[in-house]
Amino acid sequence: MAHALGLGRVTDTIVQLSRLHASGVIASSHRIKSDVRNTALPALIPIQQASYRRTIEMADAQKTAIVTGASQGIGAGLVEAFARRGYSVVANSRNIIKVNPFPASSNLALVAGDISDPSTAAKIVDTAVSRFGRIDVLVNNAGIYFSKHFTDYTLDDLRSLVSVNIEGFLFVTQRVIKQMLAQKTGGSIVNISTTLVDHPIVGVNVSVPMITKGGLEAVTRSLAMEYVKQGIRVNAVAPGIVDTPMHKDDPKDFLKTLQPMGQISAVKDVVDAIIYLTEAGQVTGEVLHVDGGAHAGKW
Ligand SMILES: NC(=O)c1ccc[n+]([C@@H]2O[C@H](COP(=O)([O-])OP(=O)(O)OC[C@H]3O[C@@H](n4cnc5c(N)ncnc54)[C@H](OP(=O)(O)O)[C@@H]3O)[C@@H](O)[C@H]2O)c1
Repeated sequence: MAHALGLGRVTDTIVQLSRLHASGVIASSHRIKSDVRNTALPALIPIQQASYRRTIEMADAQKTAIVTGASQGIGAGLVEAFARRGYSVVANSRNIIKVNPFPASSNLALVAGDISDPSTAAKIVDTAVSRFGRIDVLVNNAGIYFSKHFTDYTLDDLRSLVSVNIEGFLFVTQRVIKQMLAQKTGGSIVNISTTLVDHPIVGVNVSVPMITKGGLEAVTRSLAMEYVKQGIRVNAVAPGIVDTPMHKDDPKDFLKTLQPMGQISAVKDVVDAIIYLTEAGQVTGEVLHVDGGAHAGKW
């Protein structure tokens, strides 16, 4: 089976932005123009929710979310959900400008590029800061895995898994955390794992990909503690089987047997969990399973 902190003072922000401009950290529009397309989501106009104003993390300014792996599946669902909730969004994938799955919006920026390339991570962060002035949320959604017997994984398999799932997490997360620390406004990072880390299934042979997804769960907890005093929360969502293009060639009847509730999860089920973690001000270091109960036992 192929699977495939508080509210920063405005003056702090202005000083930081001036410094970033002066130091060239904020890219000129010329440097990023060729890979970035700004589009509109008229149907997804910002809606200010009362609950936002109650949470310490919520600044008066419109928040900015970065979503990697956003051209389809869970990532595309996240872009729509964040836009509906009033966030500005920077959406990345290798083909996102070619595929262009979203209606144009001044609150949406598309950044094309391989997330395992450090220059893509730099472009994503530069775009978020230059277009929207801040970064509040990062969802490390881009990820790959595929199944085969442990003894059949090749060096190229390992390198591609590490490059997308680990380096793709590392380069953008380091830059985002630097920006969040400079803003002094805290933030939320959500990583996407899989329930198979905790609950392997006989016949679903994904041992080597689990080195990377298990690593993401470990670093989720480590970062949650490292930045807890700065209000940067770090969590993970561990889906089971989700109905995305990743499973387009897998028989649905078989996929349903992999979750005790006997259904394949919808993109919305996972998106809802990510949005919850993004806005759950007292939750950090958590791995939230969205898997029809698979992590809880045998069936
Ligand atoms: N679907 C499931 O059942 C399931 C279960 C557990 C965990 N997950 C995890 O959930 C996340 C999303 O899965 P999904 O099912 O939505 O996947 P998907 O339908 O295969 O979509 C993957 C997305 O990632 C992008 N992508 C792939 N490689 C990339 C790279 N090197 N750089 C930047 N973007 C890249 C793809 O776009 P481009 O081709 O344009 O780059 C696409 O937008 C993944 O981390 C996956 O491991 C999924």
